[in-house]
Amino acid sequence: MDKLVIRGGRRISGSITASGSKNTSLPIIAATLLTGQGTFTLHHIPDLKDILTFTQLLHHLGVETSYSGNTLKVSSRNVESLQAPYELVKKMRASIYVLGPLLARFGHARVSLPGGCAFGPRPIDLHLLAMEKLGATITIETGFIDATAPDGKLHGAHIDFPISSVGATGNAVMAAVLAEGRTTISNAAAEPEIETLCKFLIAMGATIKGTGTTELEIEGTDSLNAVEFHNIFDRIEAGTLLAAAAITGGDITINGVEPEQLKAILKKFVQAGCSVETTVNSVTLKSNGKLLPTDVTAKPYPAFPTDMQAQWIALMTQAEGTSNITDKVYHERFNHIPELNRLGAHIEIRKNQAIVHGPQRLSGTKVMSTDLRASASLVLAGLVAAGTTEVLRVYHLDRGYEKIEVKLNSLGADISREKYNEF
Ligand code: EPZ
Repeated sequence: MDKLVIRGGRRISGSITASGSKNTSLPIIAATLLTGQGTFTLHHIPDLKDILTFTQLLHHLGVETSYSGNTLKVSSRNVESLQAPYELVKKMRASIYVLGPLLARFGHARVSLPGGCAFGPRPIDLHLLAMEKLGATITIETGFIDATAPDGKLHGAHIDFPISSVGATGNAVMAAVLAEGRTTISNAAAEPEIETLCKFLIAMGATIKGTGTTELEIEGTDSLNAVEFHNIFDRIEAGTLLAAAAITGGDITINGVEPEQLKAILKKFVQAGCSVETTVNSVTLKSNGKLLPTDVTAKPYPAFPTDMQAQWIALMTQAEGTSNITDKVYHERFNHIPELNRLGAHIEIRKNQAIVHGPQRLSGTKVMSTDLRASASLVLAGLVAAGTTEVLRVYHLDRGYEKIEVKLNSLGADISREKYNEF
């Protein structure tokens, strides 16, 4: 197993290019299941464990893929199985994204229930609601979702999501593009990941109106084609790297970004006392080492994202005062807090709110990763902690960050990746 050994106290400074978005890659890779016409060429696909897991799932279904230099080629000409097994789905919840495409193209799909994760039950009832609205009959037995479209075809419908769900919106759109007739979706997720999925589907030949908004209208079509497509940047990786510069009193320029998609995050960095400048495709942050306490409430896009909540809490341990961080998306996404407190932070949890008392001097020790963004927050804390911090079980980190220690070392950090045995 790998750990990251971080020698703290060094400033992050320099420029870097953002990787491709993990949370856009997953639905667009799933969408390749919608057609056997041709081979897809997907650029700017990050080299992550979650992407590998997803391609393993596609291979299990009979799909051919090849990956090199952040370009993924996919051909879904010979899909032989419509079943997503537990062994793969339990490794990555986003496997549920195959449900909509398989059901829409083949009229049947059998997907293992994904189970929960480190920060909560992660239900999928909204995914199933959308499929049933589109005409599917769904049974759940022996841990599997078994979905069938009567006569092999879904039909258009009006889907009104009671809460905003990125995954359920993605599944609904991917199913609707091959359904007969018109589908309208209210309270759709407006995240850039879903906006980009819609653009990808339109490039494939789908008819979708309202992309990037919470109201979508899809006209079903009979067939779609494979395309070449450039994935967007990873806004959460970018936000995490900005936090690395802010927490160490450094400076960073990130190229290859769309500042508009970082708006809520950048606004908070400015409130925290950092200077932020943007161009059409880059962002530069400078910190003078003084951080102001800044409250944050994580909500669906365009608000501050829940995937940056843990990183913000780490940053606020160094702010000169108390900050309140509330997560309205995942009320229990606070596994990073006990570990940050072991580094010397003073953070209290009250229901779905963290109260961060700063500034606290952190001192390095061994800390345990529990989930992807929690591990990112521990790395950020390690950058500023005195002495050496060892972040264990970095397989969590590798799910969503492409060689983060290489990136941070190129910006002045002192991090080594080492093997270790837990017991
Ligand atoms: C996506 O997960 C992201 N994952 C998550 O990022 C992100 O935290 C989340 O969206 C919120 O932005 C991917 O894109 C692969 P949701 P998803 O459905 O789609 C509830 C990371 O760190 N809900 O938008 O699973 C749910 O419990 C990961 O990269 C239902 O009740 O999230 C949550 O409270 C972690 N029923 C809220 O909706 C459902 O059927 C939002 O979840 C589905 C969701």
